[in-house]
Amino acid sequence: MEDRAQTLVRKMVPNIYQPYPVSVHGVKEETGDIKTFTLGFKDQEIQNRFTFRPGQFVLVSVFNCGEAPISICSSPTFSKGLQLSIKKMGLLTGEIHRYTEGDEVGLRGPYGNGFPLEQLCGHDLLFVGGGIGLAPLRSLIQYVLSKRSQFGGVTILYGARTPQDIVFKDDLAAWDKEEDVQVTTTVYRDNPTWKGEVGPVTRLLEKATISPSNTKAIICGHPAIISYVVFDLLKMGFAEEDIITTLERNMKCGVGKCGHCSIGSKFTCMHGPVFTYREIKTFPTGF
Ligand SMILES: Cc1cc2nc3c(=O)[nH]c(=O)nc-3n(C[C@H](O)[C@H](O)[C@H](O)COP(=O)(O)OP(=O)(O)OC[C@H]3O[C@@H](n4cnc5c(N)ncnc54)[C@H](O)[C@@H]3O)c2cc1C
Ligand code: FES
Repeated sequence: MEDRAQTLVRKMVPNIYQPYPVSVHGVKEETGDIKTFTLGFKDQEIQNRFTFRPGQFVLVSVFNCGEAPISICSSPTFSKGLQLSIKKMGLLTGEIHRYTEGDEVGLRGPYGNGFPLEQLCGHDLLFVGGGIGLAPLRSLIQYVLSKRSQFGGVTILYGARTPQDIVFKDDLAAWDKEEDVQVTTTVYRDNPTWKGEVGPVTRLLEKATISPSNTKAIICGHPAIISYVVFDLLKMGFAEEDIITTLERNMKCGVGKCGHCSIGSKFTCMHGPVFTYREIKTFPTGF
């Protein structure tokens, strides 16, 4: 029988500082170097208690490789587990790419502030994503589409290097079929079969019909892409606080202790990774 101490420990979980074992329930190959993993906690009770907001991330641990911060790319409303889309970069991500159904990793979190859902409610939303940057946006887009009446029109502009590098192809196609949702994808380098747009994602902004006064823009991608998009949005008349983006910094602890991710007086892991341009403008290092 469970004693009082065991009951107390059980009630405390999930402890956000402790990695919990999760097993791989499914793997989807998005591109040559990006895979989406569907994960489930081994302990059903932890699974039931694990809650997060779109834009938050977890620290994934792999034995002998360490830990890596990865954004949750599924919506909190998705009931079939937790999804992470991972680009093969080095030691840890390379190892995870070898994983198949049934393999185990550790997971702690969720960390970070996530997107400001309350401030997005009632507004039109413009999503601008580049490459794997569509991962955290996917979590928010799916959340918005599952609570459709709470938000206005949705415009999604996505840029990838080549047609083969486009992530979440099925999602992009499905979102485009939704009422009051416009999706446009562009690539930097096309191929003979590509029928869509060619050029930087900023070129899509010029063609999109957006009313800056009632729209919140949410951007995620390479820092260079973010800075170009922000520059164009400001020119279009967006208010600085209506431009929301995520910053990537090297992270270790994820909980505001080690200082690896500091920008000025803030820690990206705790006060971010989501910031408005009005906040970013005050940081010494910018994007
Ligand atoms: C808040 C946050 C959310 C993230 N979300 C995702 C996600 O959803 N999907 C995803 O694939 N990646 C994401 N990343 C990046 C991911 O954490 C790194 O790619 C990962 O830590 C690399 O680990 P590794 O051991 O495979 O590479 P390492 O062996 O440590 O490094 C290999 C190469 O990758 C480069 N690298 C390492 N970390 C980063 C980084 N943060 N950004 C760019 N280059 C890096 C190194 O400079 C080196 O050249 C996120 C990072 C942060 C901070
Ligand atoms: S990762 Fe340690 S303080 Fe942010």
